[in-house]
Amino acid sequence: MINPKLPAILYGGDYNPDQWPEEIWREDMRLFRLAGINVVVVPVFSWAKLQPAEDRYDFEWLDRVLDLLAENGIYACIATSTAAQPAWMSVKYPEILPVDVHGRKRTHGKRVNFCPNSKVYREFAARLARKLAERYKDHPALLYWRVANEYGTYCYCDTCAQEFRKWVQKRYGTIEEVNRRWNLSFWGHTIHSWDEIMVPSELNDDNKWYQPVALDYLRFMTDSTIECFVNEYQAIKEVTPDLMVSTNISGYIKKLDQFKFAEYVDIVSWDNYPQPQHRMSLVAFKHDLMRGLKGGRPYILAEQTPSSQNWQPYNLLKRPGVMRLLSYQALARGADTVMFFQMRQSKAGVEKLHGAVISHAGHERTRVFGECAQLGAELKNIGASFLDSRVTAKVAVMFDWDNWWAVELSSGPSRDLQYLDQVEKYYHALWKLNVPVDIVRPDSDLSKYDLVLAPLLYMTKPGTAENIENYVREGGTFVTTFFSGMVDENDHIILGGYPGELKDVLGIWVEEIDGLLPEMKNGMVMKGPLGELNGTYECGLICDLLHLRGAEALAVYAADFYAGRPCLTRNQFGKGTAYYVASDPEQPFIDGFVKYLCDLKGIKAPLEVPPGVEVTQREKESRRFTFVLNHNETAVEIDLGEKACFDLVTQTEKRGRVRLAGRDVLILEEQQSS
Ligand code: GLA
Ligand code: ZN
Repeated sequence: MINPKLPAILYGGDYNPDQWPEEIWREDMRLFRLAGINVVVVPVFSWAKLQPAEDRYDFEWLDRVLDLLAENGIYACIATSTAAQPAWMSVKYPEILPVDVHGRKRTHGKRVNFCPNSKVYREFAARLARKLAERYKDHPALLYWRVANEYGTYCYCDTCAQEFRKWVQKRYGTIEEVNRRWNLSFWGHTIHSWDEIMVPSELNDDNKWYQPVALDYLRFMTDSTIECFVNEYQAIKEVTPDLMVSTNISGYIKKLDQFKFAEYVDIVSWDNYPQPQHRMSLVAFKHDLMRGLKGGRPYILAEQTPSSQNWQPYNLLKRPGVMRLLSYQALARGADTVMFFQMRQSKAGVEKLHGAVISHAGHERTRVFGECAQLGAELKNIGASFLDSRVTAKVAVMFDWDNWWAVELSSGPSRDLQYLDQVEKYYHALWKLNVPVDIVRPDSDLSKYDLVLAPLLYMTKPGTAENIENYVREGGTFVTTFFSGMVDENDHIILGGYPGELKDVLGIWVEEIDGLLPEMKNGMVMKGPLGELNGTYECGLICDLLHLRGAEALAVYAADFYAGRPCLTRNQFGKGTAYYVASDPEQPFIDGFVKYLCDLKGIKAPLEVPPGVEVTQREKESRRFTFVLNHNETAVEIDLGEKACFDLVTQTEKRGRVRLAGRDVLILEEQQSS
């Protein structure tokens, strides 16, 4: 539980009272209570108000906000406000301001506009965090802490260059080793002293043209940002060791290695902003990824919009019922909170048209407020029932930030190669089957899974191939795809034939890689039926030209000079089986292939439901909760079986065939047989 002081689903979001006169605050409290809000995040971007000058702090206004919240029975996640430093600070200490990838020194403005390696920034940030902790440690409203907001600025300033040199030295020890790890003899990049190491930016184009360096710079920026977080984390923990401290991760997740970041937070926290064109499975994938960051522990849904965003090209309203449905989806996949950005809609600035619980109308008689209040009432009824419960999965999808960066830094074989797209295609098939999935790291313990999929595993870091081999040898089923096993942790090709260290487990070797033009397609001709798969399926993007080394071909290419050569293989390795998909097939193939594998391993959904209905399960002790989410606009019928269960949403008993309205939800707790 985030804090036993409030044994309930946390429901609320970012509150920015400093944008409003105090008369409004009382009205806010009335509306919060009406909507069933029990926690707000405050003060999110108020550093300039909390510290108007270097030697002056002003907490009195925040005292009044927190007291008012406490009087109204509303809790606070206190945010350290350090994502936007005051203007006076940037002016007096310009070294805080970052240098962007183009080499431009930034001036003060926007937010998250600081160099993560600035000592001055870190000192000021830790001081503010400590002062907040000391002042509010015993405040009845305080529940947990948020540090900063959506970290993710890459900086290329002289301080970062210095720190990067130290980081490289610590990682590789000697100049010779750096030359080796970065293969600097390529294009005459060899260095002879540490100060010859340059940051890879648009000034030298090494951010695009020299992958081993660019890759390490992203690792270094992750580490620098983690240090920024830890700097405040420690200041807070010294004062309130028992309260949870986190930071909200941006929904755009490529920037920082979040598996690594998650090792330093008490609880994962993320902001969910699906775009209208996103498949629901992508949203589900991100939830599973967030749950996976700390090995399956529940997490905080820190932000979502109750209605629309403002920063997309087209800002479609969430249709009636969608906000509620997406909120339950978060809970279904492992969140213990439902939070919004933001509580009251700003009246000016870039976010003036971003949705909020309280809109510009300023009262409760709006569609959005009504939906928020309905959800608030439902969550109150649900209470603490499934808090801290876990998802049990027999299928794992491997995910890795180093791999993500390296694939997309690669020059060739295709500029259309997107890691997330490839992972999501396989995840989508699992999502449609309603099979529970864990997202795991390359070094995770795989032994508890019956099926492990690692689409586009381009990079095998030390130990990755061994982990996979051990898993398959002991009876696991493993799937990977084209352009895998290509490089080591420094983006050096593993010589001797692709897929490098995965050759043995897969029983193949790849000789050539064909990067097809966007309009070009090939076909995968099944050599015989595989589950429901038969005939020919379209494929494109990449075609690997491979040789069998013990594996058998399950499908062959339909066309081109490699027609008839294998494009889908299966290899027995020890007690297990490893499959290789050598091209990028159309979704129906992936759906059928994943279904075949799940059927083979006896992996099933917790409940049979019609298409478009998402099912998950969370368990704790002897209690089991089945979430049923109808993403269809129209009603469906679902057979719950004869055993009685209790629906937490409607607080009624259900059994047998039930009708679930469009976008409606059930949370079924199995009745214990006494
Ligand atoms: C991010 C930020 C919030 C807000 C929202 C708007 O998630 O953390 O402060 O700007 O975007 O969508
Ligand atoms: Zn910097």
